[in-house]
Amino acid sequence: MPQINDHYLKLEAGYLFPEIGRRVRAFQEAHPDAPVIRLGIGDVTLPLAPAIAEALHAAVDDMTRAEDFKGYGPDTGYPFLKEAILEHDYAARGVDLEADELFISDGSKQDSGNIQEIFGADCKVLVTDPVYPVYVDTNVMAGRTGGADDSGYYEGMTYLAADEANGFVPDPPAERADLAYLCSPNNPTGSVMSREQLTAWVAWARQHDAVLLYDAAYDAFISDPELPRSIYEIPGAKECAIEMRSFSKRAGFTGMRCAYTVVPKAAQGTATNGEKVALHALWSRRQATKFNEVPYVIQRAAEAVFSPEGRKQTGEQVAYYMENARIIREGLESSGFTVFAGVHAPYIWLRTPEGRTSWDFFDELLEKTHVVGTPGSGFGPAGEGYFRISAFNSRANAEEAVARIQRAFGSGS
Ligand code: MLT
Repeated sequence: MPQINDHYLKLEAGYLFPEIGRRVRAFQEAHPDAPVIRLGIGDVTLPLAPAIAEALHAAVDDMTRAEDFKGYGPDTGYPFLKEAILEHDYAARGVDLEADELFISDGSKQDSGNIQEIFGADCKVLVTDPVYPVYVDTNVMAGRTGGADDSGYYEGMTYLAADEANGFVPDPPAERADLAYLCSPNNPTGSVMSREQLTAWVAWARQHDAVLLYDAAYDAFISDPELPRSIYEIPGAKECAIEMRSFSKRAGFTGMRCAYTVVPKAAQGTATNGEKVALHALWSRRQATKFNEVPYVIQRAAEAVFSPEGRKQTGEQVAYYMENARIIREGLESSGFTVFAGVHAPYIWLRTPEGRTSWDFFDELLEKTHVVGTPGSGFGPAGEGYFRISAFNSRANAEEAVARIQRAFGSGS
């Protein structure tokens, strides 16, 4: 029998969302008639915008004509999609990138999980806490940590608490690290980093020769145009940051799968012999070996996100979810909950009622209101005592969830 990768045995429990699914299935088996509303995993519910559907149909037609048929596409994505991204996501915000610094992929979950492969096994990794679990688990799997302690902190990983005192955006620490994962707008807390805060992180990375792994999968939900959408809006970031962005939430692509990662040519790491090596060359090599491109039809659909109609229609979808967020946020507030976020992110982060752990509250909410949320502790020890509610659902379900919570918890929670 082959030896397994023992590092997997260090992982705490199962992955968060399957565990929630398991508990909800068990509840539904016991209460088959309960009308469950799922505000747990952040999964889009609106159908594809018409402009995207049209582009998808047209691309399928291309594939039926010998002269337009496409097999394997270009290594890192079709130029038509890269050009649209460069123009709308970057040039429009004063950021100048080259097309070959973009790597079109099938998801930011994959990219944020895989990116650690190009870094050394001894790299010191820093995460904020609570955190999107993929960043932590993939580094545990790769052997960059020891086991978890009783609180769930992995030995050798640096955690920075994102808490009420710092508005859920920690400052860079005094100590150094090699890799720091940042997520803004943040999953799960819904906080967003200001230009000053991002500037401080870029300065920290440059001072310590660290690389920032910047996950901006929710950038489309930022409602203040003054806030940075990309880390490259901060001078000096191209030398020290890799950025990941996604079509999943901004354009309803969770089932379509399209995202991109930017690895600027100026970003470097150090080989064991001291030589400086471009991270771009390593990620290119990794992707060429392990990934075949996102399907042509999906890339055409993603391109349509940037057409005038696509921008308008997906903008309306984002606004729809953010109106749900407002309804949930204000409804919970009026029910006496202490609520954070839901302004620049499709997530509402709330304090669990006195004396309830995150999982206690998950069970209580499901039992009393049949509403599914996500326990904060599933995102890390500092998430204990908090709870995440997703705004991705229909207006009717958002309103109904709030009404049920108000009935069950009144105003005294
Ligand atoms: C979430 O609910 O945190 C997200 O849907 C997870 C993801 O995007 O992978």
